[in-house]
Formats: sequence, structure tokens, C-alpha cells
Amino acid sequence: MNAPPRPSVEVIPMLDLRAQFESIAPEIRAAVEEVLVSQKFALGPQGEALEEEIAAACGARYGIGLASGTEALELGLHACGVGLGDEVIVPAFTFIATGSAVSALGARPVFADIEPASFNLDPEEIEQRITPRTRAIVVVHLYGLAADMDPILEIAAKRGIPVIEDNAQSFGATYRGRKTGSMGRLGCLSFYPSKNLGAYGDAGMIVTSDEKLAARMRSLRNHGQTGQYVSTERGWNSRLDELQAAVLRVKLRHLADWTAKRQAHARQYDSLLRDVPGIVPPRVPPGREHVYYLYTLRVEGRAGGYTRPTDKGNEIRSDVVQQRLRARGVDSMVYYPVPLHLQPLYASLGGKPGDLRVSERAAREVLSIPLFPEMTPEQVQRVAEAVRDAAKA
Ligand SMILES: Cc1ncc(COP(=O)(O)O)c(C=O)c1O
Repeated sequence: MNAPPRPSVEVIPMLDLRAQFESIAPEIRAAVEEVLVSQKFALGPQGEALEEEIAAACGARYGIGLASGTEALELGLHACGVGLGDEVIVPAFTFIATGSAVSALGARPVFADIEPASFNLDPEEIEQRITPRTRAIVVVHLYGLAADMDPILEIAAKRGIPVIEDNAQSFGATYRGRKTGSMGRLGCLSFYPSKNLGAYGDAGMIVTSDEKLAARMRSLRNHGQTGQYVSTERGWNSRLDELQAAVLRVKLRHLADWTAKRQAHARQYDSLLRDVPGIVPPRVPPGREHVYYLYTLRVEGRAGGYTRPTDKGNEIRSDVVQQRLRARGVDSMVYYPVPLHLQPLYASLGGKPGDLRVSERAAREVLSIPLFPEMTPEQVQRVAEAVRDAAKA
């Protein structure tokens, strides 16, 4: 006789894209069908409409649709004059693409530390790193929260250095009434599927209000062509896919609603996790609207985080709390366990543990827990209870 099936605990994932798709499937199917009928697949009317819609949503004049957020950074940095032997100041605590886009141009990322509360670039870390070779500053708005832009823009303006916003994670966030992506020379967006506005494949965009720069980047994304089959400089093949643009336009119509739901879940987490010893919920400085791409806790050492050295001598966090959450049917992720100055990729730059202590501590302590619009208040409650138990177990 077969044993009766064991009751399975529902695992709460970090993100449920299937639930999102089910809520918009007829609209998506219609939009995809329209592209299939049009038989235009790259740089067509869907992409042009999306560029206008995204630029308007960011408070910028122009959008340049691209194939990914990484290429948005590469192209944007290149258009701002970054090239061989230049230096670009980059926060150490970010996704690797922020640094590797600089390296792809033959320039050198100069890593700077972050603020402990916001996990974003510390303005006080910038000035001491500026040299005659500094060609740009890349600011990342991490996890859905804007960096402290005013002091950064002031330092950059004083030195005549362009600021590029890596807005891959924070489309829609605000800083003192301004949208992320619209404050620097240009802003780079990623529409990677897991993003708050995610495509069904790779896609990206640059937004800017600089007309000349926009025209140049339009040419750069398509082999540097300025006329039909006439190239004036070496460019990229980074054209925005029409199917992705059509999907993104459907999703954009729902984004405000999804963001409000993310924010409501975040408020529920905030109140449930406020008093848990060793757990620090995200803090939002006054004047900023957080769009909660991720809900990231700081799990302080005594709540169970520990580190283990790798063969390279760096430390990689292996988190007890994460294992306990998994045992309770709750997914979680560490974004990001290795700061850029300690990445094997950048060993030749000579970064050592202890160089950027705030980033290194963040890498050991951060833990993101499930947050997506389709979550129910009961699921939020279940995750919060699991965190509470895991932190004290
Ligand atoms: C901070 C940051 N920068 C850059 C990127 C690169 O974007 P993409 O994956 O679209 O190339 C991402 C996302 O993946 C990111 O999170």
C-alpha cells in the first residue's frame, strides 16, 4: 500500500512571477500577439513608446532602450567619456555589473564605502578618492532606496565630474521629490525579469535630459550608426527587443499598484520585526520613497550570522538564520555576499579585507526576505514569525 502523501509546507519564495503573470495574462498575450502580427522585433514602435513612457515616469526628457542594464552602464559611461586608463568611483557594495561595466571600457573602478543605514554610497567617501584621472562617479540606488544624492551631486559639480545613476533596482523611487535616474547626467535601468518592472528576458534603458548625449547613445546602441549602414564610431549591438518592450508596457500600467502593495507589505514587516533582538529592518531616511525591490534585514552577529574564510582569504557569509528560515519553509537570499573590492575578479587591484569595513560588514549581515506584490498579509506574517524564531533559536 502506498503511504499517504505527507502534508507539504508551502514554501514562500522570494518572488512569484507566475502569480504576477496569471494576474495579467490576457493583456500580455494581446501585447505579444500585436508584435507577432507586426513582425517588427528590434527598435520599433513598442520600444519607442516605452522610451517615452519610462522617460516621463523618471522625470527625464529622453529614454534610450537597450538590451540590458549592464549595457546601459557601459554605453552611458562610454558616452560620458570614460575609457582606457580612466578611474570611476563605484560603491563596493553592489551587484558586480556596476564594477564590470567600468572594467569593460578599460577603465579602473575605484571602490568606495557605503553608509551603514542605507547601504548606499557614502558621500564622505568620494572626495578622498578623486584624482586627476577620475572621469565619473557611479551612484547605485540599492534595494529600491535612493542614495543621498545632494551631497554627491555637489561634490561632483565642484569637480566637474559626471554622476551616473545605476538605477537598476530602484525605478520609481524618489529623493526629495526627484525620481531616481533623473538627477545625474544619466540614469541606467535594468528590466531583468526579477526587477520591479521586469521583462520576459533581458532589457534595459538609459534616461537623460541631455539631448546631444541621447542622440549619441541612440547611435552607440546600434553599431555607432548615424545613417543607414554608416558608422561614425564603434558602438554596441544593444537594441531593445520589441517583444520585451510590449511586455514592459503592459507591466508599467500595473507598476504603481504593485509598488503600493510592496510598500504595504514592507510596513507590515516593519511593525512585526521592530523589536526582534539582532534583527534590523531597513530604514528609510526622511524625504525618500523606497520602492522595495528587496526587503533587506541586517542580521547582527549575535543573531547567528557567521563567516567562513574562502581559499582566497576573503570571507563569505554563511548564515545560520538563512538555514533556519529554509527549515521553516521561507526562502531568503544574501544580496551580496562579497563586496566588489574582494571579488576574485578584482584581486589584481589589491583590495584586502578591512579596506572598506562598512561594505564588508553589510556583506556578512544582510539577508533579504520574500517581498512581492502578490504576497498575502498571512504570508508576510508567516515570514516575520519565522524570522523571529530563527533569530532567537
Ligand atoms: C545594481 C545593478 N546594476 C546593474 C545591473 C545589471 O542589469 P542587467 O542584469 O539588466 O544587465 C543589475 C541587475 O541585474 C543591478 O542590480
